Amino acid sequence: MKQLSSANFQSFFILILLSGASFSSVKAAEPGTLDLANLQNYANQPVPKYINATPGKVKDNTGENPITDIGATLGRVLFYDKNLSTTNTVSCASCHQQEKAFSDPAQKSQGVAGQTARHSPRLINARFSEETRFRWDEAAGTLEEQMTTPVRNPVEIGYSGADGNPTFKELITKLEGVKYYAALFNLAFGDPEITEKRMQLALA
Ligand code: HEC
Repeated sequence: MKQLSSANFQSFFILILLSGASFSSVKAAEPGTLDLANLQNYANQPVPKYINATPGKVKDNTGENPITDIGATLGRVLFYDKNLSTTNTVSCASCHQQEKAFSDPAQKSQGVAGQTARHSPRLINARFSEETRFRWDEAAGTLEEQMTTPVRNPVEIGYSGADGNPTFKELITKLEGVKYYAALFNLAFGDPEITEKRMQLALA
């Protein structure tokens, strides 16, 4: 794994301030930084016993998108990054809160433009979920597909490209201007290009 210079670590410090929460368990080079040379283990997690209740029948939704430590690190950064929203005030974690099994105790959640029409479901262990489709209306066929629909939703994160809202492409241009993504996408995908597909893979 490539070692990042201390100059690069400064941008991760900014990242932690933006994300505001939940990186406490990430091994850090210095307080409040991500050590990309010493990533947290995401790839080799045991299946929790309660999910393994029927041995040999555990469904695994990672499919064609196997978990890697750097991919999941990038996904985690995206999940907590309020830069993803048009107002810079909302991230995935605003509605999917870790301490609530990645759900929201409120019946409806606050997005960039008002409240969601439905409850924000828990995302914990979505990897092993037996449902074959996602969302209340089962509109998403895979976890990957569901990853960027909230970004394009005019109420949730806002990059709908309709009714005067910016487009997804404008979000990508914005993220290209955020220093830490070049390093993270480069490590995860071999070059720094940011695409919707890559965001989906990392977030899932
Ligand atoms: C403003 C609140 C809000 C934000 C922000 C948000 N979500 Fe959601 N999420 C919801 C709601 C509400 C649903 C249920 C949607 C539906 O079924 O119509 C949902 C559904 C989901 C589901 C489907 C779960 C299942 O079991 O069917 C996934 C996965 C998901 N969101 C991931 C994300 C990711 C990743 C992000 C960030 C890119 C995100 N969400 C941002 C509110 C939010």
